[in-house]
Amino acid sequence: MKITDLKKQQGSFLLNVKNAQFEAGKVHGIIGANGSGKTTLSKIIMGTLPYDSGSIDYEGLTDRDITMTGQRPYLMHTSVYNNLIYPLKVRNRRIDENLVDYWLEKAGLQDKKKQYALSLSSGEQQKLSFIRALIFKPKLVIVDETLSNLDPDSADLFERLILEQQQKDPITWITISHQLVHIRKICDMVHFMEKGNIIEKATPQEMFVNPTNPSVIKYLASTEVSFKG
Ligand SMILES: Nc1ncnc2c1ncn2[C@@H]1O[C@H](COP(=O)(O)OP(=O)(O)OP(=O)(O)O)[C@@H](O)[C@H]1O
Ligand SMILES: [Mg+2]
Repeated sequence: MKITDLKKQQGSFLLNVKNAQFEAGKVHGIIGANGSGKTTLSKIIMGTLPYDSGSIDYEGLTDRDITMTGQRPYLMHTSVYNNLIYPLKVRNRRIDENLVDYWLEKAGLQDKKKQYALSLSSGEQQKLSFIRALIFKPKLVIVDETLSNLDPDSADLFERLILEQQQKDPITWITISHQLVHIRKICDMVHFMEKGNIIEKATPQEMFVNPTNPSVIKYLASTEVSFKG
């Protein structure tokens, strides 16, 4: 997917992404300070927020191939099961009960199939939102801070799920997180956002271990994590 001169004015904030490319079949990370425009950009890519000007070349992807799991998981007022099969239903796909159980088990939610989704703990809701995104075999998944509430074991599990998926059948991921250790582990490419623009794109190694861009260096210095030494 290729983005050119994408502009969106939002109050006093201007999103202005001059050039960005998210190669298919790769895991992309977007990092950057609070308010730099990561969520705004992901909503535009997802097609839920209109933009003012510029272009996005989806390279053949349609809205049926794209899914997003948000900062606040959006779950429907019904059971875990009904939430999970929803993406299959809206696409008129057959419900494969084995597949449903497979994903519930992956997320450790097998005992909660009939539970009211909104009574799940917040971490469980994020897990449900994540497996619901994957169940219909999307080609582009945008993960906006979805995994931020997870305990370390669950976060590891989801890292593994992403990496497993990439080994089996690579899809395109755009993951947004302030957890740089997580970004570093799973991403092929990292994009750094500042004041509404993507100003740097590099491999995790280049971005985190040998950064050259002064803004990136400043951002990394402000985080608690050190990748040196
Ligand atoms: N509807 C709106 N009206 C006015 N300003 C908005 C609106 N929505 C978002 N903004 C502003 O746009 C800027 C970018 O917001 P965005 O949510 O994209 O940031 P972010 O990079 O995702 O930050 P975070 O790391 O905190 O999630 C922010 O300054 C925000 O206040
Ligand atoms: Mg955000």
